Amino acid sequence: MDGYTNANDISAVIAADKAHVWHHLSQHKGYESPDVDPRIIVEGKGLRVWDARGKEYIDAVSGAVWTVNVGYGRTSIADAVRDTLVKMNYFAGVGGSVPAALFAERLISKMPGMSRVYYSNSGSEANEKVYKMVRQISHKHHGGKKWKILYRERDYHGTTIGTLATSGQAERAAQYGPYPDGFVMVPHCLEYRKQWDVENYGERAADAIEEVILREGPDTVGAIVLEPVTAGGGVITPPEGYWQRVQEICKKYNVLLHIDEVVCGLGRTGTWFGYQHYGIKPDFVTMAKGVASGYAAISCTVTTEEVFSLFKDAGDTMSYFRDISTFGGCTAGPAAALENMRIIEDEDLLNNTLKMGARVMDNLNALMDKHKVIGDVRGKGLFCGAELVADRVTKEPMDEKKVMAVVADCNAQGVIIGMTNRSLPGLNNTLCLSPALIATADDIDQITGAIDKALTKVFG
Ligand SMILES: Cc1ncc(COP(=O)(O)O)c(C=O)c1O
Repeated sequence: MDGYTNANDISAVIAADKAHVWHHLSQHKGYESPDVDPRIIVEGKGLRVWDARGKEYIDAVSGAVWTVNVGYGRTSIADAVRDTLVKMNYFAGVGGSVPAALFAERLISKMPGMSRVYYSNSGSEANEKVYKMVRQISHKHHGGKKWKILYRERDYHGTTIGTLATSGQAERAAQYGPYPDGFVMVPHCLEYRKQWDVENYGERAADAIEEVILREGPDTVGAIVLEPVTAGGGVITPPEGYWQRVQEICKKYNVLLHIDEVVCGLGRTGTWFGYQHYGIKPDFVTMAKGVASGYAAISCTVTTEEVFSLFKDAGDTMSYFRDISTFGGCTAGPAAALENMRIIEDEDLLNNTLKMGARVMDNLNALMDKHKVIGDVRGKGLFCGAELVADRVTKEPMDEKKVMAVVADCNAQGVIIGMTNRSLPGLNNTLCLSPALIATADDIDQITGAIDKALTKVFG
């Protein structure tokens, strides 16, 4: 490790952090103790990272929030970013740049039916762009009707007030309201926690969307935003028949379909995009985390030529999309994204994701046979989860503190895993795994082996 990580300097870094950094999603009271330090990761290579004290971990959650899809230490991405920055680092997105044009072309080549890319910097921002577009379409083309946007229970779309207004996770949204009008929740589709006793659960869960549209009035509903596989809300893979019916309902009521691929995009589930497993034709697709694997900040709001053309009217000075994202003009993002995409293709990482994802699921299913606290395992590609319960029959969720003890024990073993975190009241009980798409069979076995040991330790 390099100079600043030696024992003396790192103490200064930790002191500076404790004195001045306000960490995301963190209760800082505990850090007042001299014995408790925030985790500072100083180096990464492949699937492994090292903390400030030199402890090595295998990272089973790609930077904690499912971002570093191609793994750590990719010098080719760093080189591409450096070369781009010294030539042309920035110019506002009202104009173009070489990497932005080239990445848009590459991206669209993976998304049949889509045609336009709008750049910004975070998943929240990318989603909020869609909400603004839907509202502008309402004003311009529907006489102010069709302004409502539906979202689904347990899904998450971002941290701004606008995107939190579409949070299906009550604990994320709590205490930050009041929220703007026009956002309406539809039921989740997790069959394990079923809300209807029917055979064709997927269709029934989708029909619940139609019920909401009819209740609200079809002429008030402009769009629906959905994660292809719900990530932070508990790794919810859609039941058979769900997506087909959702698409039919959207067509029937002229409701634009917005797929939030912030987590699933760029290979996480073994296809370029999660929605591509289900034969869906979206009107909007948003993406962020894995687009450049965290080597630079970039997000994309992608739409069809049909939607794009709604914003073209030379005779109306207010008709174009009057939005700017200052850092959407940074060239580092698309430069990193181009190289990130090349790596996924050249290293055949989509196939690896399918293979290794199947291995994770096999291993988790084997753990389920052994540990009765695992009530359900779910996953698609390399996004997998195990829901822990106190009782398999009643499905009473496991006490959150015990789930946290499992995560902590894996951490002590040098394996970083995740869990649903301050998302759903009483239901923060799902362990999450999303290793980089380069994971090998040995990596997967090491990760699930640590979970096995942790479950034995915590639950006997
Ligand atoms: C599905 C989904 N959408 C949007 C976001 C928000 O992305 P960001 O944190 O980049 O704003 C997240 C973040 O976790 C997410 O999981």
